[in-house]
Amino acid sequence: MHLDFAPMEGVTSYLYRQVHAACFPGVDRYFSPFIAPDGSGRFKGAALRDVLPENNRDLNVIPQVLCNSAEAFLTVSRELGAMGYEELNLNVGCPSATVVPKHKGAGMLADLRSLDAFLAEVFSRCTLKVSVKTRMGLQSTAEFPAVLEIYNRYPLSELIIHARDRVGMYKSVPDLEAFAAAFPQCRAPVSYNGNVVGKDSFEKVMSTNPGLERMMLGRGVVTDPALFRLLRGGAAMTDDELRDFLNRLRSAFLAAGLGEHFTLSRLKEVWYYTIWKFPDSGRMLKAVNKSRRLDEYEAAVSALFASGLYRQDAVFRG
Ligand SMILES: Cc1cc2nc3c(=O)[nH]c(=O)nc-3n(C[C@H](O)[C@H](O)[C@H](O)COP(=O)(O)O)c2cc1C
Repeated sequence: MHLDFAPMEGVTSYLYRQVHAACFPGVDRYFSPFIAPDGSGRFKGAALRDVLPENNRDLNVIPQVLCNSAEAFLTVSRELGAMGYEELNLNVGCPSATVVPKHKGAGMLADLRSLDAFLAEVFSRCTLKVSVKTRMGLQSTAEFPAVLEIYNRYPLSELIIHARDRVGMYKSVPDLEAFAAAFPQCRAPVSYNGNVVGKDSFEKVMSTNPGLERMMLGRGVVTDPALFRLLRGGAAMTDDELRDFLNRLRSAFLAAGLGEHFTLSRLKEVWYYTIWKFPDSGRMLKAVNKSRRLDEYEAAVSALFASGLYRQDAVFRG
């Protein structure tokens, strides 16, 4: 079974990926949070740093691009190709209200003719492999058969299907029925994505989709960074392992020069998910979120680990 770490903007940066791979090896591929190039295909700053080969040593990374201009996409692909990447992923899933009206991300599903034209241009000229990560529709997953008809015209290296429509954001129940109906119709190798957070949800998707060989997991793994190991039959994460992971993350942020303020805000992002491992911890997350200095953060985190509330089998339920 092929298990990949989903891109999560603001969370799974290269520093996170490095620490994750060091503590919990065994991920097949990490997908980078999206690169959103300008109209000429340029990107710089944090987006560039995130994919630089020297920042991703020994990691299997597929960069992701959010863009609806074939020219810009091709420019990005040339730059990434020069860095040594052999594949890139197109984001047709971002549901953000600042992205969709620009017909980017899931907004590409608003106009299937434009999507078709974009893919025709990209697949006739791109020298790298191209995969797509898609929602199943804009308003409804019932749109997917028409969307798939377009994808099936092109040699996608993979089709990652987030089994929700855009309206569902990250909240609706993934439409497993629509996914199961679409899966056998897909020409490209298919990866399932959406709310696989533990053994039960994993088994449910597997049992309803015989022959499925790929899955992409996001929030469930940020909550439980050892989840891939667990799904492969390994041990559940201990609280010591989680503590060590979080300590290393903090050290990595500081060593990269992020500064106390930025380090804290990145750690708080991670704790938004980590807290699910501490059911019934009530207001204890508040102390983490209120911390303004690293010593306050450490005190709040120590209290959580000392509380005895850590549960190996607790999963993300947001
Ligand atoms: C904070 C956050 C940031 C995300 N950033 C990206 C992104 O950059 N690119 C992308 O394709 N999906 C992004 N996603 C969506 C995830 O990759 C994934 O499709 C979604 O969370 C559903 O999978 P999950 O239930 O396993 O988390 C993001 C999701 C969240 C919650």
